[in-house]
Amino acid sequence: MGVMSLRNLPPSERAFATFVLLAMAAFLTGGLLFTTRQERAGMAQAPAARPRLMAILEGVMAPNTSPAETAMFRTWVQGGAAREGFAPVEAIVTNNCASCHGPGGQFPRITSYEDLRPLAMEEASDSLYATIGARGLHLVAFPLVFLAAAVLYLRRTAWASRKGLMGASAVAVLFDMGQWWLRQGRTGIAWAPWAALVLVATTYLALTGMVLADLWHGSSEGQR
Ligand code: HEC
Repeated sequence: MGVMSLRNLPPSERAFATFVLLAMAAFLTGGLLFTTRQERAGMAQAPAARPRLMAILEGVMAPNTSPAETAMFRTWVQGGAAREGFAPVEAIVTNNCASCHGPGGQFPRITSYEDLRPLAMEEASDSLYATIGARGLHLVAFPLVFLAAAVLYLRRTAWASRKGLMGASAVAVLFDMGQWWLRQGRTGIAWAPWAALVLVATTYLALTGMVLADLWHGSSEGQR
């Protein structure tokens, strides 16, 4: 028996649904803020105090460089991560990193100046979002939030236009995935992440608004 309107659910389930939707909205907002902070870091002029690149090189990627090589990375980063001084770093990356991080590999592409400079400008962070990483956020976490919201709640609302909103959500998520994927290692498409941000935020707001309205006000259509 399908529920025609979420309004017909017991109050405890409606309260739980509200909590889940708002928790996902909070997660999405945090993730979007985190990714835009990364975008801005990519355009910054001064290197970060604790650059993410160095934190990674001294952390999880430490087995891939000798202390002398790590020092060369640090010199480049502290010198402003400029294109002029990139040649020695590029040589290390080609030798030590490209086997895993080369184009077309299964790991994030980190071989060019355009890939490495944003990592030098970005502040290292231990947040949940930093752990998931930009790739995980765009390609997995954001799509999952929309999928869960649509399958669990939007699908069961009494709104006739829910299919349109599901379509719009799919477009927003696919646009966000696509723009992130295409921009890897490229510069000059600065509008794309902002367009994706606006699209993802508006569709999720509309989705939450529609589901919350159905949960707590319900249409008379659904009550019959
Ligand atoms: C043996 C394979 C391998 C080698 C060699 C390697 N890495 Fe990695 N690297 C990985 C894996 C696996 C991850 C985690 C990928 C993920 O997040 O899915 C990673 C993650 C990273 C990240 C974080 C990416 C992100 O966006 O979260 C950076 C930066 C990085 N590596 C830099 C380097 C550098 C610089 C070198 C060379 C000095 C290097 N790696 C050598 C396998 C490798």
